[in-house]
Amino acid sequence: MSEKMWAGRFKKQLDSDVNDFNSSIRVDCRMYKSDIGGSIAHAAMLAHQGIIDPADAEAIIEGLEGILKDLDSGALEFDMTAEDIHMFVEAELTRRIGDTGKKLHTARSRNDQVALDIRLHLREEADAVIALLKNLVSVITDKAEEHKATVMPGYTHLQRAQPITFGHHLMAYAQMFLRDISRVRDAADRMNYSPLGSCALAGTTYPTDRLAVANALNMKGICENSLDGVSDRDFAVELANAIALIMTHLSRFSEEIILWSSWEFKFIELDDAYSTGSSIMPQKKNPDIAELVRGKTGRVYGNLITLLTMLKGLPLAYNKDMQEDKEAVFDSFDTVKQCLSIFAPMLATATVIEANMKNAAAKGFINATDVADYLTKKGIPFRTAYKISGTLVAYCIDEGAVLEELTLAEFKEFSDVFDEDIFDAINLENCTFRRNSEGGTAVESVEKQIASVRAKL
Ligand code: ARG
Repeated sequence: MSEKMWAGRFKKQLDSDVNDFNSSIRVDCRMYKSDIGGSIAHAAMLAHQGIIDPADAEAIIEGLEGILKDLDSGALEFDMTAEDIHMFVEAELTRRIGDTGKKLHTARSRNDQVALDIRLHLREEADAVIALLKNLVSVITDKAEEHKATVMPGYTHLQRAQPITFGHHLMAYAQMFLRDISRVRDAADRMNYSPLGSCALAGTTYPTDRLAVANALNMKGICENSLDGVSDRDFAVELANAIALIMTHLSRFSEEIILWSSWEFKFIELDDAYSTGSSIMPQKKNPDIAELVRGKTGRVYGNLITLLTMLKGLPLAYNKDMQEDKEAVFDSFDTVKQCLSIFAPMLATATVIEANMKNAAAKGFINATDVADYLTKKGIPFRTAYKISGTLVAYCIDEGAVLEELTLAEFKEFSDVFDEDIFDAINLENCTFRRNSEGGTAVESVEKQIASVRAKL
């Protein structure tokens, strides 16, 4: 452990367990690019404003660029006894260029420095998640296109309800993930304001130019209140929330994939590369990937609660509690990126067993609504028609038959309105492909949804 930069006020060295407890470098070392980028912009501004000598700024910037290069290549390793990434970089700079390095921290505090670094870092992470989401949506639309006419049962209460196409079912997820993209983008945009120059909490007496730093870092502007600049972490909560919702969507999708892969459904078969076996039961092929995605959703929800709870009791401005923000929000990003990266190819490579989907759709009386609609179109009030259809279903259950197997004579026993055209009305394909209302399950409607989603991508 090297001497602390704040050692001046202290008579004793920090206890080494306390140093460990206090240190955040294990978690925040990943922000080194943002830290160095922010410092370079800060040094350039200091020189431009005449706060430090241009030659000093030049030496500082050159030194920082060298550190960046060496960290990128692995030539320089992080000192895990350092207090945090900010202290590490500054100490290394001073080691390299001497006392000039000590001028970098003029008109800055670690409080505004860390608030900037985390924003810059999460901005990149948000872009990465958006790219992965776009890829997933494009996998979904391709699969939906392929299966825009594949009939399956649609469910409510996990009971067969009405026939739909598999493409239609998939496109529901495309809509969810599109909203996820816009949620992440919104949160990242709101975060894209620079807190640098807030200093410890109150601003500074130096003639800084905060907007110049913000512009150099490609940010939309500055945080207008210095106390808010250093003590706000709502952007981390918003991003963690957006990620929690992505995981919710992935988890529901995973649950369906797990069900569909079972022998009870067998609607799909996952590729061998995306399944695992059992150590004892030789016949098993398990959807572990989908289960893990579903399982990891819990920790991502936990991270959101960690962040909310961490913030709720904090007086303004900076408090050390806030150091805990990074582990939580980074874990959410790591987890969702991992899940999205593996979920997309798992879906892309899954085989759809169309015959089983269709067989399941042919059972379960999922055309009972269409019987009622048929009668309604012939002038019978819907409630009455609904009752007749229900009675017919009960009759079929007793007879061990499905609606399409009844004879016209049998139909007529329940209502003399029935005619030969009832068979056309309850034909499974017709029931599916004629639901061509906007957003419905008909092929042309699914095609429209696919085109619209692709245009948005
Ligand atoms: N490692 C700290 C964090 O992540 C940096 C800010 C420290 N500021 C301070 N006043 N101790 O929050």
